[in-house]
Amino acid sequence: MRLFPLVRPLLFSLEAERAHRLTIDLLTHMPGRPARHDPALGVTVAGLDFPSPVGLAAGVDKDAEAPDAFLALGFGFVEVGTLTPLPQAGNPRPRLFRLPEDRAVINRMGFNNGGQEAARARLAHRAGRPGIVGVNVGANKDAADRIADYAAGVRAMAPVASYLTINISSPNTPGLRTLQEAAALDELLAGAIEARGADGPPIFLKVAPDLATADVDAIARVALDRRIDALIVSNTTISRPPLRSAARDEAGGLSGAPLRDLALERLRDFRRATGGALPLVAAGGIASGADAYARIKAGASLVQLYTALIFHGPGLARRIEKDMMALTKTEGHQSIRTAIGSDR
Ligand code: FNR
Repeated sequence: MRLFPLVRPLLFSLEAERAHRLTIDLLTHMPGRPARHDPALGVTVAGLDFPSPVGLAAGVDKDAEAPDAFLALGFGFVEVGTLTPLPQAGNPRPRLFRLPEDRAVINRMGFNNGGQEAARARLAHRAGRPGIVGVNVGANKDAADRIADYAAGVRAMAPVASYLTINISSPNTPGLRTLQEAAALDELLAGAIEARGADGPPIFLKVAPDLATADVDAIARVALDRRIDALIVSNTTISRPPLRSAARDEAGGLSGAPLRDLALERLRDFRRATGGALPLVAAGGIASGADAYARIKAGASLVQLYTALIFHGPGLARRIEKDMMALTKTEGHQSIRTAIGSDR
């Protein structure tokens, strides 16, 4: 029996951020081993063997409190963060809004997190346990030198990260997205790669969906030149497609169903701009096996989700995995690997 349809009204009766806090608290008490996955779902990216391409996006478990619980729920990998060097309160509440009629969320959290040191200790505590846990790093809002914050984050978190994500695409830290401009990005990535050292973890870069073709080309060029390991496409959007829910005019980043087509379009743009030379991770509005499979065919090696979990509950990773596998077989592929980029 599916329990979530019964629990959902209870969670939705709470203010959104309280419901989120309650969920994370519950999950910290739910230890467990990583779920088992069909071997046909395995994908290797940047030298890491992902048992399933379906991952938990950044922002759900910002402080690395429950990565093992999410792995036990069926996610093939978990990305914790965004973590900034110093703890930070984020924007005033309320700052997280459900848009139920749109299957969407608007957030302006502003990198609220307990800082890298605390998360590093938590992750060090789980060292040796199985499961891929990536660490997403950002800059403090009032950092004098934001680029230096990324290098510091890479240095601090590399020892406990399966991979590191450089997040320059949150719309909720004023000016952060300007780091996507070629010259700044080049300097930032050079610093991050140096800080990682010779045998540190792979580095992924997470970009916004709100980019013109010229921006996509410039980012792809710098990412290829600096030899980062993957691109995550994408973060939330500051654009506003038509929405119906009461909270539609809130400021912040929009995620969920209304982001789906835009994120897929941007994924295709990056596929073209990189010529397949850089692994791509798709995020934005993925809520079903069909959504996930469409991204895989468009060139993503991995997918991530957040907002659909709020509406569909903890069984979603498993359902997506099952439906995606069925679609893969229907289209004549023996494994996900051969389906990647197959709709060119
Ligand atoms: C996010 N997201 C996000 N991304 C990131 O890199 N660092 C972060 O701290 C956060 N925080 C965050 C909070 C909330 C409340 C939401 C809804 C989202 C973005 C997230 O990882 C993802 O890229 C987008 O939400 C698009 O995917 P979905 O939600 O449409 O599946």
